[in-house]
Amino acid sequence: MQFKILPGGLLSGEVRVPGDKSISHRSIMLGAIAEGITRVEGFLEGEDALATVAAFRAMGVDIDGPERGNIAIHGVGLYGLTAPAEPLDLGNAGTGMRLLCGLLAGQTFDVELTGDASLCSRPMGRVIDPLTMMGASIQSSEGLRPPLAIRGRQNLRSIYYELPMASAQVKSCVLLAGLYSKGRTSVMEPGPSRDHTERMLRGFGYSVQSAGGVISLQGGGSLKACDIDVPADISSAAFFLVAASIAPDSDLILTHVGINPTRIGVINILQLMGANITLLNRREVGGEPVADIRVCSAPLSGIEIPSDQVALAIDEFPVLFIAAACAAGRTVLRGAEELRVKESDRIAAMAEGLSTLGITNEVLEDGIIIEGGTFGGGVIKTYHDHRIAMAFAIAALRAADEITVLDCDHVATSFPGFDSLARGLGLQIQTEES
Ligand code: S3P
Repeated sequence: MQFKILPGGLLSGEVRVPGDKSISHRSIMLGAIAEGITRVEGFLEGEDALATVAAFRAMGVDIDGPERGNIAIHGVGLYGLTAPAEPLDLGNAGTGMRLLCGLLAGQTFDVELTGDASLCSRPMGRVIDPLTMMGASIQSSEGLRPPLAIRGRQNLRSIYYELPMASAQVKSCVLLAGLYSKGRTSVMEPGPSRDHTERMLRGFGYSVQSAGGVISLQGGGSLKACDIDVPADISSAAFFLVAASIAPDSDLILTHVGINPTRIGVINILQLMGANITLLNRREVGGEPVADIRVCSAPLSGIEIPSDQVALAIDEFPVLFIAAACAAGRTVLRGAEELRVKESDRIAAMAEGLSTLGITNEVLEDGIIIEGGTFGGGVIKTYHDHRIAMAFAIAALRAADEITVLDCDHVATSFPGFDSLARGLGLQIQTEES
């Protein structure tokens, strides 16, 4: 499937984008190992989160739905999962695989984890290392990549682990293994990363301490089922925050968006660039802050992206690069080497696409320098990465000519219905079979 987008257009209206991917994954995992029935609304029915649902069904958990975002998980308790008959296929989902490694390291059965070509090329040493220190037994394929074979019946011990990089996936993996370990497991972060695991564990009645960049919990407790309201995903909203900023005369409201402080780098960065973004009706749902976000078009200026915002906007850089290309002057990003090991090498993939559209850029080992300019048209390769595809669809709003974005099937991993929703808001996007 590919997108063809005609140049121009403006964004207007009010919309709720699909549910948060990070929170959706965690709601299934924690609901499954809780006692009682966890009811979730606003669940993301995207392929990544659905792969997590399928994995827990395969381990004996009854799950009703999802139906229009509602899902009910019949928790089996910390020790109630059963051996799956086949390897668990997590599809494209790094979050699914890395968090499951932690959760499955403490089980009494063996399990194999696999995924699609992109996931099987992503580094897993970052979770294998701390889990091995805890006493887990994990075999990987060459280069510490999936498929992974996790051997059960290991006695896990707690550790104090200093994260080598700001990664919520690794932090969460260690904390989930910590549930099955004797003693207190602690993770020290080099800087804040998304804290949905900590918040949700507390929502399930599990005590988690966070202070001075160290998060810790005591193993061997239990989780009590609860209700979860998944906010709209700020990472999906980000495409429209940029779209309405760069398309003249736009005025858009995105409703019920999660604005967890560990996720709002995209808003902070766009505001530093001059964006006109207002948070309305701030409230808290199930331990997560949410707001309606109004965004109107505004002239943007290039900036040096503050290093403390990098981890808080890590998934939003593809579309932030589109904003940078539409800004006056130069934007510089450094300290973002993690972008090279996402669903694609996002620095390389974005630099290639920006160059195709006539935007001057310089690739750095850990970032990029982008000179604001004018988009021409062209054909864009996505390297099967959902966020690269959606970012370049948004670029068409300011392009001189048509943009074709190849290989867009992966958009369904995080944002099913992106094309029709974007069309409804004013993007001139068509979907074609390729
Ligand atoms: C996620 C953490 C981030 C992010 C990913 C989702 C999570 O990855 O890029 O899309 O849900 O914990 P890292 O932990 O690798 O930074």
